[in-house]
Amino acid sequence: MCGIIGYIGNRKAAPLMVEALKRLEYRGYDSAGFCTINNNRTLIEKDVGKINEVENKINLNALNGNVGISHCRWATHGNVTKENAHPHTDCNEKISIVHNGIIENFSQLKEMLIKKGHKFRSSTDTEVVAHLIEEYYKNNIEEATRKALQHLEGSYALGVISVEEPDKLIAARNESPLIIGIGKGENFIASDVPAILKYTDKIIYLENNQMAVLEKNNVSITDINGNKMEKEPVKIDWNSELAEKSGYEHFMLKEIHEQPRAIAETLNGRTENGSINLKEDIVFSDEELLKVSRIIIVACGTSWHAALVGEFMLEELAKIPVEVEYASEFRYRNPIIDEGTLVIAISQSGETADTLAAIREAKRRNAKVLSIVNAKGSSIARESDSVLYTYAGPEIGVASTKAFTSQLVVLYLFTLYASNLRKSLSNEKIKELIEKLRKLPLQMEALLHNDAKIREIANIYLSKQNALFLGRGINFPIALEGALKLKEVSYIHAEGYPAAEMKHGPIALIDKNMPVVFLATKDIYTYKKILGNIQEVKARNGIVIAIVTEGDEEAKKLADYVVPIPKTLYILSSILAAVPLQLLAYYVAVNRGLDPDKPRNLSKSVTVE
Ligand code: M6R
Repeated sequence: MCGIIGYIGNRKAAPLMVEALKRLEYRGYDSAGFCTINNNRTLIEKDVGKINEVENKINLNALNGNVGISHCRWATHGNVTKENAHPHTDCNEKISIVHNGIIENFSQLKEMLIKKGHKFRSSTDTEVVAHLIEEYYKNNIEEATRKALQHLEGSYALGVISVEEPDKLIAARNESPLIIGIGKGENFIASDVPAILKYTDKIIYLENNQMAVLEKNNVSITDINGNKMEKEPVKIDWNSELAEKSGYEHFMLKEIHEQPRAIAETLNGRTENGSINLKEDIVFSDEELLKVSRIIIVACGTSWHAALVGEFMLEELAKIPVEVEYASEFRYRNPIIDEGTLVIAISQSGETADTLAAIREAKRRNAKVLSIVNAKGSSIARESDSVLYTYAGPEIGVASTKAFTSQLVVLYLFTLYASNLRKSLSNEKIKELIEKLRKLPLQMEALLHNDAKIREIANIYLSKQNALFLGRGINFPIALEGALKLKEVSYIHAEGYPAAEMKHGPIALIDKNMPVVFLATKDIYTYKKILGNIQEVKARNGIVIAIVTEGDEEAKKLADYVVPIPKTLYILSSILAAVPLQLLAYYVAVNRGLDPDKPRNLSKSVTVE
């Protein structure tokens, strides 16, 4: 939530920050602001609106200077107003700051600072930090910031500059992500890697309670008490082009189309000679993994839906009992964790506050933690005992697409790995299952090239306010995901349900205005029952859209619209079935004149609890 970019070097800071901040817009887009220092003056331009709109309102040319901080906001404390937009300053506009996170004790601090004569201009929690630094400032911005930090409760990623020391940019972090980009004769701070990949691929991940002082030719890191720390930069192997739209109108569409590549990358080197090779990723010994008698998967949002698919895979093939928990609920009860429990955390960003808190709780209770993460070196990756990366590349669109299908692929790989260890499947069977998995990228490619039907179906939703998604078995979580995608980008109220549950309530909603998407791919378990459920909806004049297996004539006769997906294993069909639902959500949003990359009220990375 909220995006931060800071720069120090030889270039003009403002245009660079505008450009880089646009890549962070998925983190917040209700207001934006920029601050530079030039000729002993603090220059600030900020306003409400998306970055493009703010860029048109402000005078960028006026922002000279080679050091600066900038921010795009997702409001937590204080309305969306120009005054509340960041950067914020101290009384004399000498110290400027940008902040991501929540200062939980800001009311007390504000009261204390007002008594000391400080004048506040905004109703944000952030502004207290600028005044606190001012309170401690004695010709050393690093020291003053350090002293101010001692008083803060809550979460923060901070960028600080002072007109008195224009050769320094201070960064600090606690519980909100902040990275440092190491350039040549220039250095950066950012909330996320893709924003600055164009300038550098050498990244230092600032950890909790760490501070950094950036100069154009130097970066020094200390803990919050001022003790020096050595931190080697990590080289990021993401291609900077992946963070561009490359001719697509929106990141969401581009990322949907990147799925065959994301899956291929995620499989790369992990499925050789008919077996699964995760030895380089998983630090647990075979003995440790064999002792696992129960798995708890924690995640939020789309990653939680992936967890539900994973539950099905692991129980069906590896025969391990699995429970799936909302990460946000996990630590607010008394989860039972014994020595046989493995906790798996799933997160695209690796920074979701609730998921991070859940793994900390799991570790406090001595669980082993394995995470499935897309963002290399992120907090969840660092704090887990072992990490299985998805190689989806940077996901910029707020609606998660390629990260989701890549998570499903990793869950499938881990399932086969565990099945092999536990001998729940024969070598021949595993070989056969891998074969089918390796076909997925090409099958998905074919599916993506044929989206005319989805565009046609999207028109149905132009006038609709409600929608249902129904599926059974492994496709029930896909129904949930289809509903989530639609509601987050098109603002249509959508529900995902297990198809058989429809009769226990939601069927009352069905009439000629209700579009119902059925996940009706062929399987030995529920296919016939799903056809029955389709008939129940048809009998009540609902509009039936069925995602079916290629060549299925029976479902075609019943449904108003069918979208065929290539034949594969039942368990893998859920990965393919997710794609038309993503496209549907995308085209519905665009038809309704909405920007699917920036859905209202949402932020890509939910770093507050
Ligand atoms: O980065 P994470 O996977 O931890 O994020 C979890 C959710 O916030 C995320 O999946 C969210 O639900 C997406 N907007 C869904 O498209």
